[in-house]
Amino acid sequence: MPIVSVTLGDRQVSGRTPADPPNCMLIVIDRQADGHLPRSFWVCDCPLTPMTAPSASVVADNARVDSEPADESVRAVRNFFDALGAAEWDRLVESPSARVALELHRRFLRRFVQPGWRVLEVGAGPGRFTVELARASTSVVVSDISGVQLELNRARVAEAGCEHAVHDRRVLDIRDLSAFADGAFDCVLAYGGPISYAFEEAGKAFAECVRVTRPGGIVLASVMSSIGNLRYYLPGVAEEIKVFGAEAMDAVVHTGDLRPTQAGGHICRIFRWREIAEMISAQPCRLLAASASNAISLGDPSALERLAADPQLWPRLLDWEEELAQEPGMLDGGTHILFAVEKVRHPSSPTAESHPSHGK
Ligand SMILES: C[S@@+](CC[C@H](N)C(=O)[O-])C[C@H]1O[C@@H](n2cnc3c(N)ncnc32)[C@H](O)[C@@H]1O
Repeated sequence: MPIVSVTLGDRQVSGRTPADPPNCMLIVIDRQADGHLPRSFWVCDCPLTPMTAPSASVVADNARVDSEPADESVRAVRNFFDALGAAEWDRLVESPSARVALELHRRFLRRFVQPGWRVLEVGAGPGRFTVELARASTSVVVSDISGVQLELNRARVAEAGCEHAVHDRRVLDIRDLSAFADGAFDCVLAYGGPISYAFEEAGKAFAECVRVTRPGGIVLASVMSSIGNLRYYLPGVAEEIKVFGAEAMDAVVHTGDLRPTQAGGHICRIFRWREIAEMISAQPCRLLAASASNAISLGDPSALERLAADPQLWPRLLDWEEELAQEPGMLDGGTHILFAVEKVRHPSSPTAESHPSHGK
């Protein structure tokens, strides 16, 4: 429910003010025109419109949040996705580049997930990949930290005629999967960033995914990428530097933690591929494959629109994307980093491989 509209650069955006807004601040939750996840902007000196905010945690009386504990931030993320509601369903179909991202994630899933598997989906959201898992003939335990997203998941999956594949639905935080025994699943799917929303506890979140996967089973995940996001969202980055200062952006660049510049909005942790490789090597698993999402389709949207409109070229473009996005030099270049690991059968066997081409 948009409450206010403002002009930001050359764009008109709408958003909500915090519940008890300070005098000259406005939070705008702004969906990118091409459907990528919204970023929030703080805009100074805007007229305020009274409102009821969905999340009390969005209020901060200045821009900096230096050391917010993970728990508080995870609650803020849950509130964010509760408030985002059904808009999350559209994220991966709103533009050609979003559709490329959907296809890359879908191909990864089809490549590794086998019929008859028991899968835990964490951070499932409204269910785009729950539907894919159903179509891959798996049995799915659907989970998310947001009760609103889980209810949307129930509705969307039923609409797609896929509810038969859902074994259970649970509100769960990826950092604590203690509801499940070690090795309970053939596969854990954590697409679209639940690991990124664990902030400094990302390693613990990934360790939980590995723990509940059986030896020989697979963890498939995607996290938000550091370099790719900073490049893709550069106009927003420039705005944030004006509001928060270069030091806050320094912190983002060096830690990947967006809380210093996204206080109260879409907070998460963005990663470099190197950090993901380190996270994998700390667990009893080995890397099977990694990919950026997307590779060549994050540039000029109008050129991409034209390619997408050509029924001969579009499938080729998707094949080029799939191939190029897996090049080692590309892994940091998309808005997301996708990866697949196998839990090792014997923990003493070699862990992460140095090159992510294995398993293709
Ligand atoms: C960007 S959406 C991705 C949804 C879906 N997996 C997809 O890729 O389309 C991220 C989802 O992760 C959930 N999430 C965020 N933090 C989480 C956490 N700590 N534990 C579990 N889920 C979380 C959100 O509620 C949201 O539904």
